[in-house]
Amino acid sequence: MAESSKNNSESSISDKIYKVRKWGLIPSLKWYYYVHYKIGSLQKIRKTANFPLNMMMEVTNHCNLKCIMCPREIMTRKEGVMDLELFKKVIDDTTKFKKPYLLTLHFSGEPLINKKLPEMIRYAKDKGVPIVKFNSNAMLLDEKMSEQILGSGLDILTIAIESTKDIHDKFRVGSDFEQVTRNVQNIVEMKKKKGLKKPSIRVQMLTSKDTDEKDIQAGIDLWEPIVDYVKIESISTAGGQIEDFGSTRSQKKLCKEIWTNMVILWNGDVTVCCVDHNAALKVGNVNESSIEEIWNGEKYQRLRDLHRKGDLDKIPLCDSCLNANHG
Ligand SMILES: C[S@@+](CC[C@H](N)C(=O)[O-])C[C@H]1O[C@@H](n2cnc3c(N)ncnc32)[C@H](O)[C@@H]1O
Ligand code: SF4
Repeated sequence: MAESSKNNSESSISDKIYKVRKWGLIPSLKWYYYVHYKIGSLQKIRKTANFPLNMMMEVTNHCNLKCIMCPREIMTRKEGVMDLELFKKVIDDTTKFKKPYLLTLHFSGEPLINKKLPEMIRYAKDKGVPIVKFNSNAMLLDEKMSEQILGSGLDILTIAIESTKDIHDKFRVGSDFEQVTRNVQNIVEMKKKKGLKKPSIRVQMLTSKDTDEKDIQAGIDLWEPIVDYVKIESISTAGGQIEDFGSTRSQKKLCKEIWTNMVILWNGDVTVCCVDHNAALKVGNVNESSIEEIWNGEKYQRLRDLHRKGDLDKIPLCDSCLNANHG
């Protein structure tokens, strides 16, 4: 399919989506996904990685937008910004234990609201974390912030933008399509002028019942010549927690996250996956315990055991996530 799409200028939209997806991964990230997949798919053994392969740190859960499809809409947690000292403590603790392969610096909020973000990225990179990345709505990506991000050592910057202005305006309430476009073009230009290889600058668009192939194609046509990678994702219901805006995701059979991922919220609370926006599955707090203690702790292991046994009715969030039609 990839070959025919390469040779056929009339190739279909799904071929094109496949192509941008396929060639967008950087080699080391392919390795990460392979390991992640293997660990998560060992159905009979269900072994836990001996360290979190993917650590997500919520540098803030404040946001400057009110996107209608965002799981943040159901978040009832207190809002705040992660302290630089807490961030450093976690990185020191983790890199001493074993490095997470992938460090993601967004969760329920807009990372650029935390003005210490560039310093945090630099710290994690200096401590040897292989891949540091985050997603942003890019409204705060002005000249000064772009300069700092480009100098931080970041590996991947993904800008969330919808495929056309109309769709963007409908979903991304409070955003300005033209402003986001200018900010992305500007940081790409600045990166080019500086002769930098990193970060890989990407654009991510969502498919929903409001998008058709023409819209997605318009988005690809706009962004493919400018950025390093165009990613197209189906809108989700965050495991059945929010309204279905037209998800085309297939139902999950098994959870991989609980064996490979850890999410650290701005106040140090730890949960097990990126669907848990209200920390219903809190397994500890990094102010009180080390990453190693939490990762191998009783609460995490109990959740893994329940998954092994298939006793999901004892974990309503996981039950809804794995049984929702649209994950
Ligand atoms: C929750 S946001 C946080 C980071 C940043 N504020 C942003 O918008 O990129 C992370 C990613 O989730 C995506 N997202 C939001 N709602 C979604 C949904 N219902 N289904 C799938 N992805 C969603 C956004 O497009 C963004 O790429
Ligand atoms: S900008 Fe990101 S975090 Fe904020 S509401 Fe939109 S998707 Fe959610």
